[in-house]
Amino acid sequence: MTKNEEIKKRLKNLKSLPTLPTIVSKLNEIVDDDEATAISLGKIIEKDQVLTSKLLRMVNSSFFGFPQRISTVSNAIVLLGFNVIKTLVVTSSIFEVMQSSDIGLWEHSLGCAACAGILARRRGINNPEEVSTAALIHDIGKVVIRAEMPEDYSKIMDLVLTRDIPMRKAEEEILGVQHGEIGKWLSMEWNLPDKLSIPIGFHHHPDDAPDFKDIVAIIHVSDILIRAWGFGFGGDKWVPPLDHRAWSLIKFGKKEGMEILEELDEKLAELKNFTMDLA
Ligand SMILES: [Fe+2]
Ligand SMILES: [Fe+2]
Repeated sequence: MTKNEEIKKRLKNLKSLPTLPTIVSKLNEIVDDDEATAISLGKIIEKDQVLTSKLLRMVNSSFFGFPQRISTVSNAIVLLGFNVIKTLVVTSSIFEVMQSSDIGLWEHSLGCAACAGILARRRGINNPEEVSTAALIHDIGKVVIRAEMPEDYSKIMDLVLTRDIPMRKAEEEILGVQHGEIGKWLSMEWNLPDKLSIPIGFHHHPDDAPDFKDIVAIIHVSDILIRAWGFGFGGDKWVPPLDHRAWSLIKFGKKEGMEILEELDEKLAELKNFTMDLA
């Protein structure tokens, strides 16, 4: 078995990352059914009370910043869209792992999500919450490597420290594949929509993305901005190189740049001590 096949096999049967297989497979059945409504989807999720209360706490947090209180799951689906709710349901346990085992990466992810939301709104992207959610989980591959392949993970971190190279280069050497690709495999395994799995897979080489180039570009630029800002910790000290074609899709001048940085500064201050409060 090649290393890639071995990693894919592990993703099918995650051992250290808790998943919610039953509810996810039910959600997957529903999404293929055009007749599905927010109410019927809400009912499925609401059968699980613990999950429902976690979900409602998340959607009511300062993270999404809706002025009115969202009191039911169907209401959340109407406001945030099915893709966002499904992703939050599927990944809620990953957030718990991230918050408890790698707070730097958690903050990096939150920062990227905040930045991506700001850029998506300014560029008039439909459903900016979806872009924020994709940014929130863009480095999910790193969580998987750390939790599921701890020996490989420590080899990767050794390389990062001793040779002073970016984490993704070390991943390539040790695993033959980078965290973006692993995150994309996992999101496909969970049947997350392409709109989320493509940005995850291509955030370090946005020009290769087969679709959703504007969203991929937003996440690529957000990742770089947040690393340059020094908010959270992405695993190494390197700010990834900016892809010029991605930049040309969403570029901003000095004046707008200043406005964006101001907005971001405010949002990051709000998020500094924020956890998804999943307990
Ligand atoms: Fe990354
Ligand atoms: Fe990142």
